Amino acid sequence: MAKVIFEKVEKRYGDNVVIRELSLAVEDKEFLVLVGPSGCGKSTALRMIAGLEEITGGHLRIGELVVNDLHPKARDIAMVFQNYALYPHMTVYENMAFALKLRKLPVAEIDTKVREAARSLEIEHLLERKPKALSGGQRQRVAIGRAIVREPKVFLMDEPLSNLDAKLRVSMRAEIKKLHQRLATTFVYVTHDQTEAMTLGDRIAVMRGGDLQQHGSPLEVYDRPANLFVATFIGSPQMNLFDAILDVSGGRARVTASGLALDLPAEPHHRPGKVVVGLRPEHLDPAETAEGCTLEADVDVVETLGSESYVHLRAASARGPALARVPVEVTPAPGGRARFSVRPSRVHLFDPASEKRLG
Ligand SMILES: Nc1ncnc2c1ncn2[C@@H]1O[C@H](COP(=O)(O)OP(=O)(O)OP(=O)(O)O)[C@@H](O)[C@H]1O
Ligand SMILES: [Mg+2]
Repeated sequence: MAKVIFEKVEKRYGDNVVIRELSLAVEDKEFLVLVGPSGCGKSTALRMIAGLEEITGGHLRIGELVVNDLHPKARDIAMVFQNYALYPHMTVYENMAFALKLRKLPVAEIDTKVREAARSLEIEHLLERKPKALSGGQRQRVAIGRAIVREPKVFLMDEPLSNLDAKLRVSMRAEIKKLHQRLATTFVYVTHDQTEAMTLGDRIAVMRGGDLQQHGSPLEVYDRPANLFVATFIGSPQMNLFDAILDVSGGRARVTASGLALDLPAEPHHRPGKVVVGLRPEHLDPAETAEGCTLEADVDVVETLGSESYVHLRAASARGPALARVPVEVTPAPGGRARFSVRPSRVHLFDPASEKRLG
């Protein structure tokens, strides 16, 4: 059993609170991704699990045990760092064997474990090299190999792919996903990259300024963002926002703003007044002509990416520039006016004051 449970965990440096009452349970064998912008406290949360950072409030449990005061070595976890932190004077083999030697495992057993991990990561031919003679991607595999051989209860990874080029990052992402399936161990993974979070996580936890904003499966968070921050942080290109007015009559909720007209079934949480409307770029459909939910806007610039286009729009009610992501065949021409329809189920409404999702 290797659940990791944060119970109102707090971290402060002097008077500066960098993690505020974090409560979150990572299930046994789950892949949980902590995601958020720079400085939100992701690494701090991870380092508290590892025991590299003192916990200043609340309880942290691994399995059933409260580990607040447990030495890192006694926690049975392994961490992979962004900079890999390999020992430069040791060979790949020695790097991978190091923790097992400290544990005084028999030499033959160490050898079997190291070679097995090296085979699975396809770095067998590199075992005699020193880290400086490896590429970034190879070093990254060694760092993962060094964690695997320890057979930890929990794997912690702090932005392990951020030093790799875009192509390698995508292939290593898939490798890490496979590794998780094969090892069937609890993973806690930190990244600021929402795509990485969406593709890797069984669940994701979105943080901002030391506060947990929302946690759930990637699709739950994408389909029902809890507030404006999560709505614009998750999803790429980001969600378009419009300032609008909501009216309720005759069982319908009508949301209007310059260029925007949404006719929705009324819900108990609909109150007349100001709302913020969120529409994802991929949900603006230029081909559909149905009445009901429409956006009309001036087309500014069109970027063609091959199979699809990014259509930059100007709409008076939009908060900042707006964007539609559409198939190439139905791309509107720049300079004109374009009309898009949106499925009612794809319309997000937020309270402008609290920034929270309505409903
Ligand atoms: N030793 C320290 N003393 C004081 N403040 C610190 C210390 N270490 C971290 N912090 C602060 O804690 C906050 C969270 O830092 P943390 O490294 O956890 O952020 P992060 O989400 O991992 O960011 P990044 O994506 O840039 O790695 C930051 O505001 C940081 O300045
Ligand atoms: Mg960090």
